Amino acid sequence: MSLITELDYGTPIRVSEQTVTLTIDGLTVSVPAGTSVMAAASRLGTQIPKLCATDSLEPFGSCRLCLVEIDGRRGTPASCTTPAENGMVVHTQNDRLARLRRGVMELYISDHPLDCLTCAANGDCELQDMAGAVGLREVRYGYGGKNHIHDAKDESNPYFTYDASKCIVCNRCVRACEEVQGTFALTIAGRGFESRVAPGNTDFFGSECVSCGACVQACPTATLTEKTVIEHGQPEHSVVTTCAYCGVGCSFKAEMQGNRVVRMTPYKHGGANAGHSCVKGRFAYGYATHKDRITKPMVRAKITDPWREVSWQEALAHAAAEFHRLQAAFGVDSIGGITSSRCTNEEAYLVQKLVRAGFGNNNVDTCARVCHSPTGYGLKVTFGTSAGTQDFASVDKADVILVIGANPTDAHPVFASRMKRRLRAGAKLIVVDPRHIDLVRSPHIQAQHHLPLRPGTNVAVLNAMAHVIVTEGLVAEQYVRERCDLADFESWARFVADPRHAPEAVEAQTGVAAAEIRGAARLYATGGNAAIYYGLGVTEHSQGSTTVMAMANLAMATGNIGREGVGINPLRGQNNVQGSCDMGSFPHELPGYRHVSDDATREMFDAVWGSKLRPEPGLRINNMLDEAVEGRFRGIYIQGEDIAQSDPNTHHVIAALEAMECVVVQDLFLNETAKYAHVFLPGSSFLEKDGTFTNAERRINLVRKVMPPMAGMADWETTVALSNALGYRMNYTHPSEIMDEIAALTPTFAGVSFKRLAEVGSVQWPCNDEAPLGTPTMHVDRFVRGSGKFMITEYIATEERTGPRFPLLLTTGRILSQYNVGAQTLRTENIRWHQQDVLEIHPFDAESRGIVEGDLVMLASRSGEIALAAHLTERVQPGVVYTTFHHAKSGTNVITTEFSDWATNCPEYKVTAVQVRPTNRLADWQEMFAENEVALKRIAPLATAAE
Ligand code: SF4
Ligand code: SF4
Ligand code: SF4
Ligand code: FES
Repeated sequence: MSLITELDYGTPIRVSEQTVTLTIDGLTVSVPAGTSVMAAASRLGTQIPKLCATDSLEPFGSCRLCLVEIDGRRGTPASCTTPAENGMVVHTQNDRLARLRRGVMELYISDHPLDCLTCAANGDCELQDMAGAVGLREVRYGYGGKNHIHDAKDESNPYFTYDASKCIVCNRCVRACEEVQGTFALTIAGRGFESRVAPGNTDFFGSECVSCGACVQACPTATLTEKTVIEHGQPEHSVVTTCAYCGVGCSFKAEMQGNRVVRMTPYKHGGANAGHSCVKGRFAYGYATHKDRITKPMVRAKITDPWREVSWQEALAHAAAEFHRLQAAFGVDSIGGITSSRCTNEEAYLVQKLVRAGFGNNNVDTCARVCHSPTGYGLKVTFGTSAGTQDFASVDKADVILVIGANPTDAHPVFASRMKRRLRAGAKLIVVDPRHIDLVRSPHIQAQHHLPLRPGTNVAVLNAMAHVIVTEGLVAEQYVRERCDLADFESWARFVADPRHAPEAVEAQTGVAAAEIRGAARLYATGGNAAIYYGLGVTEHSQGSTTVMAMANLAMATGNIGREGVGINPLRGQNNVQGSCDMGSFPHELPGYRHVSDDATREMFDAVWGSKLRPEPGLRINNMLDEAVEGRFRGIYIQGEDIAQSDPNTHHVIAALEAMECVVVQDLFLNETAKYAHVFLPGSSFLEKDGTFTNAERRINLVRKVMPPMAGMADWETTVALSNALGYRMNYTHPSEIMDEIAALTPTFAGVSFKRLAEVGSVQWPCNDEAPLGTPTMHVDRFVRGSGKFMITEYIATEERTGPRFPLLLTTGRILSQYNVGAQTLRTENIRWHQQDVLEIHPFDAESRGIVEGDLVMLASRSGEIALAAHLTERVQPGVVYTTFHHAKSGTNVITTEFSDWATNCPEYKVTAVQVRPTNRLADWQEMFAENEVALKRIAPLATAAE
């Protein structure tokens, strides 16, 4: 067996309060009722030979290798499908069983290429292992009869190969696709000897397959194998670490040959993913060693100068001298910093420490400003904690799932698979989204209610749901009386009961049929455990914080907070957006969300940091940019964030960056922001450093270094060196020391240490003496703030209005294969799934504009205009258009506006009034698609015609 294969019990371990006791090969064992004989034997250390069984899938019973004898029963039942029973006496080894198993194996091997020594799976093949385990020494049948030895390979998927000649038709891949991933892309086509695995009537690349890799993981042979393993061979050691893409925070084993990653295998004991993955984490890690990586520090006097490679020492000294010069000339507040939600907790902590203690101001912000800052605000006000309330496993206990402003199958795929499993098991689904997202209808899932609201009307819809709950007597009165502030509740109840909030009254405004809102509200309030999951479609609005509070109101009013299966759950975008916020990245909050004006907290930090912290909040990102345009803000240290591409109103961002005298960018690549930088400090990928990420469920996971930093320094080391160059001493030798400092200063992290994390795998904060193993569910007996606080959530329509010039509403989102601004995923084979951003437009809107599928169109708002290819689809409703923002060339944020959430300034990315029209400005398209061969080919005939 491979050194890195984890123990496999053969069938899933059941959870039951009842146990049964049986005897296996003379040994007695007790297991939870429902456990298979195979898993019970595993508990005793007896591995019964198997091929079609694995403990991540329901037993199937097709290979007949796991036969056993049971006293009092006829025949030789399959141990994987036979439940253990009280008093059972089982025999797993005797001559008869050995003969039968050898016979089964002989048949398999007789239709299998005997190329073990050159096979990519050699040493990691269960067929090979089982042949050895059953003692098969010779095969009596040759290849003379019918066989599959010459079946063709399917190499269409960029990451794995399907070699049909090696398939034993064990069905594990089909079941993995159904049970684990929930995509149902594979079937067994044909019958008997003809049966083969098939991804529909096409190849893998052209099929429904989303390249999650679950089938590859499940395959016991070399049939489904990673191309990297075929190319490089089997890994020789592995290191458990954490995915650096989305806020699900999946754990992986980085399987290595020396310093080379051979494959990323989802870690079975990962707290967030339990052995599952998506295409990004599992396969799209190649960006980390991409040739575009910048590995030498660079400096230039003016942004029009060419870059000059310099030593680390020179780059850091230059940045420090410039920051000193600017503060001397323009004041202590003339510079600031931005922490990264892509970097570790320890790195975010150091950047905010450098700004507060080294720069001497509170001008620090983070990219959460532009995504989930309303979550922090809204949940802090209502519940007392700026974070989601549940762990992911909680969804297994939900009876009603309300998904609002999120597209989990694309943006949080591993959690989506878990959610879909629960939905297939019978939970009810409400989707509130302007688009017909996949979840609304997918294999074996159909939303009970889809509320396709007009972008920008979340609050009106949630208030209408609250109206139904209050006026129809669906409030959980006892819960509210015991857990919430009653006076606040009563004024809220009067507010939402007002007829102007009735579903019928807001129907025209929201575009949602009143009956749908009423049905959804009744289901949410009365359907059992009801859980809300939401994303940026909630927060990136002018009323983002109001929407978060409106959801909190609904949950409190129906008693859906404080136990498993319920809650308010933000699906965080970036891998460490929760962590960067926890680490004090906002200008008004020190680590642990403590306000900078709190004297006692500041004194505590001053004592440890040797600082004199300022009590007034510093500048937010947008304030820094505004001040820069005004000439008062002159320098910035940006770690791992591309504000020129990801922040709204690009023209304004660029004007601000151009106005600054010292822009220091620390990143893996020369990103859009680096075009305006004076100092470039090479960053390090997640593979090159130790640290922690905190995912959407507050789970703190270890990130472990698997290779040395390509530029010689990990990001935390760079911040330490910059701080020391500035004259503010930092003396850390390892990120664990940084976490020790965080734990000493932050009560919710008091019990967190690298040692603890290594011992228990991961913990969810709060983790302290009261909760040494962390807190999966928040607000169990009481809200963190004491009584839950209902907030009045008046709906105020965004100032961004449609009109004759801009009659359509643009909303934005992500797709599965890509991640944010594409800096990572577009540097991998994932680009094959998304060669350009497209504009989704309803056929009615397209027809009235003379637009047909694939046309290049101008998309214009009052901020600017861009060119995109049109895709006609009924996924969007008439009047709404949609695009992604993964390609820098698309420049989506050129057209987003300066409107933002009233409380947090989170930009209103999700609502922009636009016009769409066909364009004949060929030059725009050619510039736009200059690096896109496919699009250029399509443009070529037009170019010829224009000449
Ligand atoms: S591809 Fe692999 S998992 Fe699927 S049926 Fe064939 S051998 Fe089994
Ligand atoms: S990679 Fe995932 S989606 Fe594709 S066939 Fe395999 S299990 Fe199904
Ligand atoms: S779901 Fe998110 S964390 Fe998990 S593998 Fe995919 S991108 Fe990584
Ligand atoms: S492992 Fe039991 S029948 Fe295949």
